[in-house]
Amino acid sequence: MTTPDPIFVDPRLARLYDAFDDDRGDLDLYVGLAERFGARTVLDVGCGTGVLALLLAGRGLSVTGVDPAAASLEVARAKPGAGAVTWVEGAAEAVAGLGLAADLATMTGNVAQVFGTDVEWAQALAAVREALRHGGRLVFETRVPARQAWLGWTRERRSARRDIPGVGPVEMWSDLLEVALPLVTFQQSYRFPPGMLPDGDVVTSVSTLRFRERDEIEASLSAAGFEVDEVLDAPDRPGLEWVFVARRI
Ligand SMILES: C[S@@+](CC[C@H](N)C(=O)[O-])C[C@H]1O[C@@H](n2cnc3c(N)ncnc32)[C@H](O)[C@@H]1O
Repeated sequence: MTTPDPIFVDPRLARLYDAFDDDRGDLDLYVGLAERFGARTVLDVGCGTGVLALLLAGRGLSVTGVDPAAASLEVARAKPGAGAVTWVEGAAEAVAGLGLAADLATMTGNVAQVFGTDVEWAQALAAVREALRHGGRLVFETRVPARQAWLGWTRERRSARRDIPGVGPVEMWSDLLEVALPLVTFQQSYRFPPGMLPDGDVVTSVSTLRFRERDEIEASLSAAGFEVDEVLDAPDRPGLEWVFVARRI
């Protein structure tokens, strides 16, 4: 199984996720597609801090949010309305065992890029397929490699500061560590208020993401028993991402 990055599993960092990723206009497309498909049961794979799961549950859908990072799920479970969602600590590769027959499975926030090897990706797709009913949809996004998003993952181009309730001001910045396509490795650093943490003020998290080409993804979906119905553009990031809409066959 892919091990989640510290940013999702370290409780000190998991509680910062929503503050630094505070524009969730990316989720409108997913909410719209759930509505368009008339989905009643949704499996949100790699649900993280549960933003989409809660949005959908708030609209009356039956939602299961799955993520291997306990600290992120803890953040999700503490949110208003969290009782309406079934939260499961687990990896995408294990969702077949949940006994669902979901209308829709989602992977938002580029979850698809965390699967570093073809084997892990194929296992995730196979498991998600098993968790869908026949004709159920899988919708996920992934960054377009040619747009080289990683060029922006530097201290100069990606840094921010947020006031975190109960913590104080926290600064974040990124450093690009290695581009060895199709893998890109970068580090995110968070500086906490002085003396707040016992072992230094800066906590870091290193992530490696896989950038897959469109034809690779289409082939992997087909091999896993999906038909690609559409490949959409992400309206909030035009030209930067592909949003795959695949149907279980
Ligand atoms: C960038 S976050 C996106 C979270 C959420 N979907 C969102 O849109 O905010 C990526 C998520 O993928 C999760 N993840 C990592 N490995 C995973 C795996 N093998 N199966 C499912 N999720 C995984 C991480 O724990 C993390 O919550």
